[in-house]
Amino acid sequence: MKILVLGSGAREHTIIQALRRDPEKHDILAAPGNAGIAADADIVALNPTNPLVVTDFATSSDIDLVIIGPEAPLVAGVANQLRSAGIAVFGPEREAAALEGSKAFAKDVMASAGVPTGQAWSVETSEELIQALDQSEGPYVVKADGLASGKGVLVTDDRQAAIEHAEFYLQHGPVLVEGFLSGPEVSLFFLSDGTRVMPLTPAQDYKRAYDNNEGPNTGGMGAYSPLPWLPKNFVADIQRDVAEPTITELASRGMPFVGLLYCGLILTSEGVKVIEFNARFGDPETQVVLARLSSPLAPLLLAAAQGDLTQVAPPKFSRNVAVTVVLASEGYPDNPHTGRDIHGLDALASHKYVRVAHAGTGFDGAQLLATGGRVLSVVATGKDFDQARERAYAALEKITLEGSFYRRDIAQGVSA
Ligand code: GLY
Repeated sequence: MKILVLGSGAREHTIIQALRRDPEKHDILAAPGNAGIAADADIVALNPTNPLVVTDFATSSDIDLVIIGPEAPLVAGVANQLRSAGIAVFGPEREAAALEGSKAFAKDVMASAGVPTGQAWSVETSEELIQALDQSEGPYVVKADGLASGKGVLVTDDRQAAIEHAEFYLQHGPVLVEGFLSGPEVSLFFLSDGTRVMPLTPAQDYKRAYDNNEGPNTGGMGAYSPLPWLPKNFVADIQRDVAEPTITELASRGMPFVGLLYCGLILTSEGVKVIEFNARFGDPETQVVLARLSSPLAPLLLAAAQGDLTQVAPPKFSRNVAVTVVLASEGYPDNPHTGRDIHGLDALASHKYVRVAHAGTGFDGAQLLATGGRVLSVVATGKDFDQARERAYAALEKITLEGSFYRRDIAQGVSA
């Protein structure tokens, strides 16, 4: 199969690494990619958020399947254009991708579909904001309605900080004030062909920058899978109570969701609730989910893209565990230092149980450099969490990047 992957993060590198493990040999292209992806795919210099440019390239290059990694091309309508040109694309059209692109839209879909979620008030003015904060019991949860690269969410006890955060985002569009929910969080992904869903395997993400869940929110600093502490039947319950009603509701609105439905869930004392939906694979959760995938990836994504998941058997996952730890540049997430040299990856290249997925990396001549906040994900597998953690952290010790940091508590205390 000839496959084009759009995106430049560790998620896309992980997807490409998984495609390369398929028994069928694929011809893999990536745009724009990064230094790590360049070793595993042919890089194409095109703007992944431009629907016409992507579609012209996919048509003229006889691409069999386009996989859209990040949210920006989805919201820009890249899937709409590809699909109307008859090209199989794994990723929802703009209208369905609003499930991630607009938090107010997601709440409306959940309300119609009867999907359990927290209370929320969508506000557009300072007066509405104050009324909503008065109704919220605190801590205050304030979210920008649209995409904000992981920076739009603030959870705080400080009412003034909540007001300032909301006022900043109100300049750009609506803001959501949500009721605070507490409990362990779970990310669960479903493939969707527009009418049916197929679950992958649960993972847990670590969103705060520093150990013990301290520091600012980030895109994700680490993850592990499976989650041995989940209740029995968790996946089937979420499929029945969350994924299927959501996909059915979107289909009934004439906006079928074809791609990856990311359910961000929280196990509260009142039951499981949806915190957020995303319209694409999560990063870094994908690193651990796909590390455990033991059946081919491309046929699953192609079947979803072609609107018929009944063509394929459900994915299989290894009983081994997987842990990923993100190496971040000094100053991430607020003000990451970039342009510094990275050393030590060669020593890991042939490790049997450790893989490195590149995110913010590039080359200056032959020298590998950090070009972003999240630089790379070290992904380790093992028979249990102690072994996988040991392997991941031993690998991180070998990598040098001045000023960089990573969390030391990913999957700590989890027993298989
Ligand atoms: N790790 C969170 C996300 O992908 O949105």
